[in-house]
Amino acid sequence: MRMDQNAFNQGLINFIEASPTPYHATTSMTMVLEQAGFIALDEKDEWDIELGGRYYVTRNDSSLIAFQMAERFDITDGIRMVAAHTDSPCLKLKPKTLYAKEGYLQFNVEVYGGALLAPWYDRDLGVAGKVWFINKEGERVSDLITIAKPVAIIPSLAIHLDREANQNKTINAQNDISPVLGLTMGEIEDKFDFEDLLAQALTSQGHEVEQVLDYDLSLFDIQKPGMVGANQDFIASARLDNLLSCYTGLLALMNADRDLSCMLICTDHEEVGSKSFPGADGDFVEKVLRRITPDVNINSRLIANSMMVSTDNAHAVHPNFVGKHDHLHKPQMNKGLVVKTNANQRYASSSETQSIFKAICLKEGLPMQYYNHRNDLPCGSTIGPMSAAKLGIRTLDIGVPTLGMHSIRELAGSQDAYSMYLALTAFCDTQDL
Ligand code: CO
Repeated sequence: MRMDQNAFNQGLINFIEASPTPYHATTSMTMVLEQAGFIALDEKDEWDIELGGRYYVTRNDSSLIAFQMAERFDITDGIRMVAAHTDSPCLKLKPKTLYAKEGYLQFNVEVYGGALLAPWYDRDLGVAGKVWFINKEGERVSDLITIAKPVAIIPSLAIHLDREANQNKTINAQNDISPVLGLTMGEIEDKFDFEDLLAQALTSQGHEVEQVLDYDLSLFDIQKPGMVGANQDFIASARLDNLLSCYTGLLALMNADRDLSCMLICTDHEEVGSKSFPGADGDFVEKVLRRITPDVNINSRLIANSMMVSTDNAHAVHPNFVGKHDHLHKPQMNKGLVVKTNANQRYASSSETQSIFKAICLKEGLPMQYYNHRNDLPCGSTIGPMSAAKLGIRTLDIGVPTLGMHSIRELAGSQDAYSMYLALTAFCDTQDL
């Protein structure tokens, strides 16, 4: 059953709000999958994959692969794969994170990925991520926490102290963006114990904490995602890149016909190159595919019959900076999905995969647009090319037009996520690969 656009957008907003980190995004997706009857698999266990079955498996609690096996499995049908990433650029807390300076208490932070730093100033910041601890039973366990309160802020420097701020502003990531979280009263310990804050968050979730051991924590903007514009033409939110695609792919998978095999791949660490344990340039996808079809010949044939759609946001044309786009490739919001092409293989689209997708869009009556980067600017990339190369799979790169990519608050069109959902559902159901 397909939901309407308003319900879809509300679901997207709730999903992003509940997912301040890749761990939370993965958990949000597993909750939806569990409700839809998908069965959890663990890489440590023996798997018993049945035809017609629906399964999911996570790695590092921050990457997820979910799939359904066709009821009547035919190797020539292949698997329709949709791929996205769970991570977004942000500020993370360093292992030694608290310090006092000039009477202020501050966080020592590390920049994760290609964050646009300027928008992080003057925002109310919460803390979220995974914390490891020893519980009352003496066990070493972990849980996710979300402190959705304004515990920190990075104040701007007044223009009176930097008269060049509007002409010439550089941001030193080591010195200039440490958030403040309070004032000191002498020793740090007198005023504030960071591990106490973490223990409190865990206790409020029903844990009895003996000792906090370690953490992977990020700062995030506590402002909720929302519809924006005089006619609500936009969705404004953190992490639209790329939780919008995770959510869209998730719903498409759940709505797909049961007579074809499809797979959703959402991996962490795209923003830092994907070469990691849970990343798309690791062996997660390869291993899962091998366990579905252990026979090498069958595995190779299955992948050769398959196709991947790598979904990651595209650059909408910006009315104030029109010259940043190629003059004939200026994607507009709410005017359709964007197929991303790059002859130098920064995107994995080929004329073949583009033709498959265009045929789907024509059949479904969905508009589509093309993006091709200016020749005189270095082009970004996605998990598309590395997955195509690693797995040997025909791949297409698409996305919804977005403004402010990698800002702490990005902007997408209010119709585009929904039309991507319709297109991906049709992709999962297409007989023509
Ligand atoms: Co992205």
